[in-house]
Amino acid sequence: MHIIETQDLCHTYKGNIDALKNISFIAPRNTRIAIIGPNGAGKSTLFKHFNGVLRPTSGKVLIRGEPITKENIREVRRTVGLVFQNPDDQIFSPTVEQDVAFGPINMGLDEEAVKHRVSEALRTVGLSEYRTRVPHHLSGGEKKRVAIAGIIAMEPQVLVLDEPTAGLDPQGVREIIRVIRDFSVRYGMTVIFSTHNISLVAELAEYIYVMNNGSFVAKGTVAEIFSQPDLLSSVRLDLPILPKLISSLRSQGIAIDMGYTYQEAETAFLKAFGKIA
Ligand SMILES: Nc1ncnc2c1ncn2[C@@H]1O[C@H](COP(=O)(O)OP(=O)(O)OP(=O)(O)O)[C@@H](O)[C@H]1O
Ligand SMILES: [Mg+2]
Repeated sequence: MHIIETQDLCHTYKGNIDALKNISFIAPRNTRIAIIGPNGAGKSTLFKHFNGVLRPTSGKVLIRGEPITKENIREVRRTVGLVFQNPDDQIFSPTVEQDVAFGPINMGLDEEAVKHRVSEALRTVGLSEYRTRVPHHLSGGEKKRVAIAGIIAMEPQVLVLDEPTAGLDPQGVREIIRVIRDFSVRYGMTVIFSTHNISLVAELAEYIYVMNNGSFVAKGTVAEIFSQPDLLSSVRLDLPILPKLISSLRSQGIAIDMGYTYQEAETAFLKAFGKIA
């Protein structure tokens, strides 16, 4: 049984806006999935179906094989943690600490456990010093981290992040990459994220779904999707700079392996320069 599955999911907003058209999607356990596509493709709309924020116009959303109902919605939200694209949609408590504690308290954890979860989550996102700050007055990137902390404090089985690095400084982006990798490896957590940062896709995703106009137009591994530059440009994306450079060198007859992540590209260059076998 898959942890998240949608079958022919359609979502029509008021005004006859077809944001999702027959989306069939499967998230197996313990994978990292990127959903990429241009503005308005339907990524955020799809994510809001994963934990029952939106209801299907038609089709199905199954969490561990079960449709989302009034009776199981709390359980669903415990299983699937969604970090919204806009942190202002998610943060509403008077202090950072209270905001991050909200989920764990709702789960019925005792005070000691809540305290522990909050400390760990704030430490993870680098905001240990921000406990008593007013979320409303934080910077965009700080708010984003509070929103992420609030969700990871619930230790969901699936972490859904809508543009997790938008607005973060480069160090912040690296920290979020580390956090997501850590969580998925340490807890065997499924991670689903959307992003316009194509390097992030290469570094984090094992599997990619490409969305356009409310539909999936392609799916595959990083190597499968990134080897189709025309597909990427059709959805207003571009290869990351290193594979782009390697691709150009290869087309000029230089013998070098393809590499999509920083690590793979470095290995490819070292090999091409005869530094390693
Ligand atoms: N509440 C709403 N009412 C009406 N239309 C909406 C609403 N929310 C989104 N839409 C429309 O649905 C479509 C999909 O929007 P969505 O936010 O899911 O796209 P996205 O892929 O997340 O885009 P972005 O990359 O800009 O975040 C867009 O055409 C958008 O204008
Ligand atoms: Mg969006």
